[in-house]
Amino acid sequence: MAAHPTRVRVWDRFVRVFHWSLVASFATAYFVTEHIGLVHKGAGYLALSLVAARCVWGFIAPGPHARFAGFVPTPGRLRTYLGQLIRGREPRHLGHNPAGAVMILYLLAAVVVIGVTGHLLTTDAFWGSELVETLHVTTVDVTVIAVIVHVAANLYESIRHRENMFKAMVTGEKNAPPKADDGSAAERAWP
Ligand code: HEM
Ligand code: HEM
Repeated sequence: MAAHPTRVRVWDRFVRVFHWSLVASFATAYFVTEHIGLVHKGAGYLALSLVAARCVWGFIAPGPHARFAGFVPTPGRLRTYLGQLIRGREPRHLGHNPAGAVMILYLLAAVVVIGVTGHLLTTDAFWGSELVETLHVTTVDVTVIAVIVHVAANLYESIRHRENMFKAMVTGEKNAPPKADDGSAAERAWP
């Protein structure tokens, strides 16, 4: 019988390259604003393109952890998870946990809103529009707070489940769930 593996592949290469390229492009667009030129716009369009590609990958990826169908929770599952989280009894998820999944959906949508409003500001129709400007800048501000929460949540989960989530987004690997009595992976039951 084959030995039970200690490590499993969770994040495919696409997801890893996507993630760190998104971090780099978002940060570049955020910090290069003194002159809204090629760097700001290029980085913003890159972030937007990465999210567009990630959305396609969410439907065609071969593995369950990258697919929307594999990680977007139902409201019921989200409620259950949040209840467990408050009591400090949330189970480990090999892929995105339900709360993390909601944050991810927000971050993806936010980059779309920021990218599209940014683009609109360069068009004749919306150049100088206060409404679009406010939408662009406010969504950025809210998203920066969301990113801080996102990183803090990953830090919390890294400590809680004794697994470096940041490293996992680099290598793609995580600790294998312990084997259940029936021989199947017991990932959702892992405390
Ligand atoms: C230095 C800052 C960041 C760190 C350390 C970080 C870390 C991580 C980690 C560890 C995960 C995996 C979470 C899990 O296991 O469920 C993740 C997922 C994700 N993060 Fe970040 N993140 C950062 C910044 C950002 C930013 C700026 C954005 C977008 C604006 C972002 C968007 C996402 C998305 C969309 C996912 C889901 C990945 C996928 O399934 O494709 N992150 N992040
Ligand atoms: C998704 C990544 C993006 C981020 C994080 C971002 C961030 C920002 C921030 C923080 C500002 C305010 C600058 C300030 O007032 O000092 C700004 C302004 C601006 N951004 Fe972006 N942006 C992004 C994408 C884009 C894109 C794709 C475009 C256009 C192609 C764009 C065009 C603009 C323009 C024209 C302004 C000036 C608005 C004004 O008059 O106040 N941005 N952006």
